[in-house]
Amino acid sequence: MPSLWNEQSPTSGNAPADFAKAPNQGLHPELYEIENAAIDHDDTLWHELIGAAPWAGKRIVDLGCGTGYWLPRYAADAREVIGIEPDAALLPAARARSGGATVLRGSAEHIPLPGDSVDVVHARFAYFFPSDENDCDPGLDEVMRVLRPGGSLVVIDNDQRRGEFADLLAESSWADAQGEGRAIHRWWADRGAETNPVMSSWSFDSRADLAAVLRMEFPSEVAGDWLARHPDATGLSYGYLLHLLTAPAGTAAPRQHKPPPTATRHER
Ligand SMILES: C[S@@+](CC[C@H](N)C(=O)[O-])C[C@H]1O[C@@H](n2cnc3c(N)ncnc32)[C@H](O)[C@@H]1O
Repeated sequence: MPSLWNEQSPTSGNAPADFAKAPNQGLHPELYEIENAAIDHDDTLWHELIGAAPWAGKRIVDLGCGTGYWLPRYAADAREVIGIEPDAALLPAARARSGGATVLRGSAEHIPLPGDSVDVVHARFAYFFPSDENDCDPGLDEVMRVLRPGGSLVVIDNDQRRGEFADLLAESSWADAQGEGRAIHRWWADRGAETNPVMSSWSFDSRADLAAVLRMEFPSEVAGDWLARHPDATGLSYGYLLHLLTAPAGTAAPRQHKPPPTATRHER
């Protein structure tokens, strides 16, 4: 089992090289709370998540849980909830959530749990942004290590083609950091994952909240133009992609989720 990191200091000697502070959740946790509260008021995404890999009565990991917004929701049905988060500054908020989740410092590449011990792993906008520059195989290997045979990884990702959020993303230079849409589909397909689109929405309590979150997530000119074109909006349509990968059943054979070396993993 990988060793636990130093719990106290995000800049301590054993802080992981793989950790990059999230520009939204990491730098603006209060605003990210408002963003999370705006997500999926009609529960479309939530029901798709349950349908993809039910966690009632099971052990679920929220990988890259941030301040743990979703931990109480998982805890309502799960047997055990574990939040994993590399940013030490976010751990106290995650641990203060109701529901009794355990929150550990760790990352996708270093999950401080034994092998074959988890039924479902969710990664919500965390770590899995594969591109030529961003190798996500180490984290995928680690998730496959901790999943029980037949267990499921569900990655909640942005759909870059459907919904008003995708339109904003397309206008934003920051989209590059999320990888290119077709290459992302291919990356997951090469590893045996199923990718399904889900259309949902953001609904804010006020126009001011919407504006503040858009200005956090996008360059100010992109956010400003969109707000000017939608003068009455307090929300927007939001397309998600769910990438679902199931750990092979049985432990006798080594796990195979990577494509063969000849596959064109990053072809665009
Ligand atoms: C956009 S935030 C999402 C937080 C949370 N999943 C949510 O939906 O509220 C991305 C999170 O991924 C975390 N993160 C960064 N590097 C990571 C890594 N290597 N493994 C796991 N999580 C990571 C960040 O610290 C941050 O908390």
